[in-house]
Amino acid sequence: MSDSITFVSLTLNHEEAVARLIHQALVQWYQSRLGQGARFGESHEPFLQFPRVYEDLDPGEAIAAWDHVTKTLLGVCFTHERETHLSIGIVATAPEASGRGIARRMMEAALEKARAAGKPARLVSSLLNIDSFSLYTRLGFVPGLIFQDLMMKVPEDGLKATPPPGIERVRLAHTDEAAALADLEHKLQHIRREKDYRYFLADESGAWQVLVAENAEGERQGCLVIGLSFGMLGPGFAVDATAALALLWQGLDTMRGRSPVFLVPCREAALVKRLYSWGARNVELHVAQSTAPGTETIGICFPTFLPESA
Ligand SMILES: CC(C)(COP(=O)(O)OP(=O)(O)OC[C@H]1O[C@@H](n2cnc3c(N)ncnc32)[C@H](O)[C@@H]1OP(=O)(O)O)[C@@H](O)C(=O)NCCC(=O)NCCS
Repeated sequence: MSDSITFVSLTLNHEEAVARLIHQALVQWYQSRLGQGARFGESHEPFLQFPRVYEDLDPGEAIAAWDHVTKTLLGVCFTHERETHLSIGIVATAPEASGRGIARRMMEAALEKARAAGKPARLVSSLLNIDSFSLYTRLGFVPGLIFQDLMMKVPEDGLKATPPPGIERVRLAHTDEAAALADLEHKLQHIRREKDYRYFLADESGAWQVLVAENAEGERQGCLVIGLSFGMLGPGFAVDATAALALLWQGLDTMRGRSPVFLVPCREAALVKRLYSWGARNVELHVAQSTAPGTETIGICFPTFLPESA
């Protein structure tokens, strides 16, 4: 690899270049390997959300591969240190610089951060992308739960299926609820990330909403973040399939006239079957990967890509 490349911390000044790089990397990879480049659209503008949200959440934490001779950005890898772990994603290399070890070297720098913090690294990896799957597993990540990426076209006048039980006990989260949500996720999923919930709950731009499901006794049964600008449901978690369905139903209802994507564990067969009956269609598969595969989790988690979580 050329000596002109250095690995530096990324700043907000580069958000335009980062968005273009992520968009081009995804279009090029999915078009050349799967003929599916069109799914990422023609404009890089929606991808500005990645550097903007990450600069708010984890300023200066992204790793950039920078060619200081041509003064171009060749790769980017975002890291998000939380109480229990370090999340990594999105990772992208400029198409013209692929296959030169740039992603590997960015990932090595990210793993060094995790080691220094004494925490495992976690990410969500596409199962259609053999390159990134190989990159991560070569570096010591161990694949775990497999997820279906489901897309649901929500009619303008709402979902047509029979509503699941418990939707009347789904409410908007309170602004001071971040710690309680993070505690429940920790108990169920063994990860804690209060900062993310604080960020979503503090949002005043209308980009995010947080739903909470309760049982008849008023105890929290899960939560689901709605990425109204991002077009995804998640992150979130639920104690069981009943709470998961109630959250997803209400989450989808906030996206009338749109086609949001959400991830659910493939092993939750009854949940998946119900979602098919609502009209959900598979668009991809992802796998959670960790450098320290842990104990069995409780309930259901909904990973997402902004911020990357599993
Ligand atoms: C995936 C992506 C980041 C890889 O970037 P890159 O800079 O070309 O990757 P690298 O050159 O560092 O190579 C990755 C490593 O995986 C290895 N690898 C790739 N395909 C492999 C395979 N089929 N089997 C085994 N190893 C493989 C390479 O040998 C290399 O390891 P090495 O440097 O130890 O030899 C890039 O293709 C990209 O940006 N894709 C679009 C965005 C994307 O999908 N990101 C991942 C989201 S899950």
